[in-house]
Amino acid sequence: MNNLKGPDGFDQFYGEMFKGRWPSLKASLLLPKKHVAILNPFSKFKFPEEPIQMTGVPFPHHIADAFPHPEITEEGYFNYYLMDAASIFPVLALEPKAGERVVDLCAAPGGKSLLCAFLMKNEGLLISNDRSSARRSRIHKIFDEYLPKTQQKNHKVTAHDASKWCLYEKNVYDKVLLDAPCSSERHVLADPKEIALWAPGRTKAIAVSQFAMLASALDITKPGGLIVYSTCALSQLENDDIMRKLEQKRGGRYELIRKEFPVGEPTEFGWQVLPDTTGWGPFYLSMVRKIK
Ligand SMILES: C[S@@+](CC[C@H](N)C(=O)[O-])C[C@H]1O[C@@H](n2cnc3c(N)ncnc32)[C@H](O)[C@@H]1O
Repeated sequence: MNNLKGPDGFDQFYGEMFKGRWPSLKASLLLPKKHVAILNPFSKFKFPEEPIQMTGVPFPHHIADAFPHPEITEEGYFNYYLMDAASIFPVLALEPKAGERVVDLCAAPGGKSLLCAFLMKNEGLLISNDRSSARRSRIHKIFDEYLPKTQQKNHKVTAHDASKWCLYEKNVYDKVLLDAPCSSERHVLADPKEIALWAPGRTKAIAVSQFAMLASALDITKPGGLIVYSTCALSQLENDDIMRKLEQKRGGRYELIRKEFPVGEPTEFGWQVLPDTTGWGPFYLSMVRKIK
């Protein structure tokens, strides 16, 4: 299987992973994405129609196949932020609260950090970290487009390598989100150049750096604090296998937390949202509470 490359290799690799589910899963990955529009609390914008809401999502929102590009309203801020419904779930899992010390380790462009900021109401500390300087500027841009400066006083943007943060700090944060860089197969499948270059070594290499980041996330979290790991990968090497490796290498230092989300299905260590059954995702998340 290691010799398989390009579109045929991709098909065989994911076919073996998802078995009989793969043809419909692959077809669903090629469909246009639906969106959730999360209303900006700093804009007075309201949808003309009755919004379609997903139960359990604590942000006023509306769901549709397509939305007009967000617009600045008279208050001076964008009216809504568009995202995949499943991308909201890591923030539901993290439940950041006013006054907590929260880190979003791989934060750019900043959608999940923005939702954290809405929940934290400018109290405590919210750090949006990203190693890429170009992508960090997108975090600043999004925050300025959606929040008054006076509502960003608890927000800091940093530039650490997430896998090395633990060398400088330990046992500091109440909540840590690791929305890790991943294989993002939906994008690979949509891009002929990307899929031509695909090889199984890619997901294996990404998984190595994801695990290093997760181990670092565990170290920087306070005992009793929460870590949420998420990806938009299909590859199980980057999802449950990462949590299995954490159990093997750091077992006893944390407990796995199980939680249900508005759409999707449980997995061995977490929760997965796949587009063949839900129309959302792909998305995976798992959450743990640090013990020591
Ligand atoms: C999946 S994206 C994050 C999406 C983001 N959480 C959001 O909701 O908008 C992954 C991000 O990780 C960043 N990244 C990659 N390697 C990193 C590292 N070692 N340390 C910190 N950030 C990293 C990338 O620049 C990229 O912006």
